[in-house]
Amino acid sequence: MAYSEKTRGIYQGQLKALEEAGIFKLERYIHSPQAADIEVEFPAGSPLKKVINMCSNNYLGLSSHPDVLEAAREGLETRGYGMSSVRFICGTQDIHHELERRVTEFLGTEDTLLFPSCMDANAGVFEAILTKDDIMISDRLVHASLIDGIRLCGAIHDTYKHSDMAHLESKLRLHADKRLKIVITDGVFSMDGDAARVDEMVALCEKHDAMILVDDSHATGFIGKTGRGTHEKCGVMGKIDVITTTFGKALGGASGGCVSGRRELVEMCRQRARPYLFSNTIAPVVVAGVLKVLEILSATTERRDKLERNTAYWRKGLSEAGFILKEGDTPIVPVMLFNAKLSKDFPERFTMTASTPLVSSSRSFPKGRPAYGRRYRPGTRFITWTKRWMRLSRPGKGSRYSARPSRRLSTGTACEGRHRADRRLREGRDDPGHGRRGRLGENRRARRERPRPAGRLSGRGRDLE
Ligand SMILES: Cc1ncc(COP(=O)(O)O)c(C=O)c1O
Repeated sequence: MAYSEKTRGIYQGQLKALEEAGIFKLERYIHSPQAADIEVEFPAGSPLKKVINMCSNNYLGLSSHPDVLEAAREGLETRGYGMSSVRFICGTQDIHHELERRVTEFLGTEDTLLFPSCMDANAGVFEAILTKDDIMISDRLVHASLIDGIRLCGAIHDTYKHSDMAHLESKLRLHADKRLKIVITDGVFSMDGDAARVDEMVALCEKHDAMILVDDSHATGFIGKTGRGTHEKCGVMGKIDVITTTFGKALGGASGGCVSGRRELVEMCRQRARPYLFSNTIAPVVVAGVLKVLEILSATTERRDKLERNTAYWRKGLSEAGFILKEGDTPIVPVMLFNAKLSKDFPERFTMTASTPLVSSSRSFPKGRPAYGRRYRPGTRFITWTKRWMRLSRPGKGSRYSARPSRRLSTGTACEGRHRADRRLREGRDDPGHGRRGRLGENRRARRERPRPAGRLSGRGRDLE
């Protein structure tokens, strides 16, 4: 038997280590459509409980909107259920092409290409547009999917401190000799909830002849006066070279994503982006739904205006109740609790009563870690900051996203270091009790003292500062 007892034992050990470290994830089963009020079975087998859902990214409440459902039904009737092939082999449906046109119009870009998800868009875009002579400079807190895309690309990678424009400029100067430069950021950072300073970034990119890519997954549909995204909020519509975004959050929440931006860059993706070339595109029923969502959002800003009011109301209420919040004005509102046990217990108390907020992810909080706090989005989500570690997670060898790691100048930020520690722990390679001062610390010291090959750009394997 290929799957021997020894093999089983290894996995059972790893899973047990996850449980012991407090990072074993359990799913809730939702027995109702996605909405602000849902019925949840948790733990599995428990009676259904009515709760307020604060975990989803259903920012605009469109996931179960009757008009979107009706459009999806019509899409199903007229275009069928599935495509049964990738686009470049079999062709595409008219509605896919129509959606690309409508997204281009909505975002104010030159062209758009659909991907099965934004994760796929981010995984495919860099490899399609860059070569080993180019440099990718990313904010240190970008989403995991951007990190994976960066790892898949042969270009050199460097980072700048989160939202630090002076540091970004120093990096742009440092890499002035590269053929092409691209600066990479989230539009709204999914854990910290702050918006990138894309106007300043555009100015720096113009000054230093660099391109800019913004992942606007947590902005498209509701950030900016008419919900176009971070580029609208910052007054730089038409100046972002690449926008990647998802249809799996505010835009109906089903699935799908896209790369939108300069015509040539989008065309390069059509020719070379592997998730586009080798994976089925979005199902017709979803395309029909997203088309309706864009129609709704183009007709009125009512929903994003209400979200803005809700956000302000929630921020004010929480502050008045004595909670410490991270500053910002997006619907992602981090609530700082500063204590691991409190972070874990706090949401559990909520879920004990009926019709109370559903909170997520305290279980994912690694044992022995400081609690950075939680965040809450009005009507959508309340979550631990520990997701930052999850976001920075890098799949192990053999995963499709780690097949060809990029040449990185930095092997990690402090968070990534902690994540590596976490991975060691999961793989049973380190004792959770010792952490950085234990064997990990020794390993790090040993690595530091190891001689480096001449010409390596990254001193101690950390970021060049
Ligand atoms: C910033 C960001 N980019 C990309 C994604 C991935 O989106 P999708 O679900 O379409 O793959 C997410 C999802 O959480 C995200 O937060």
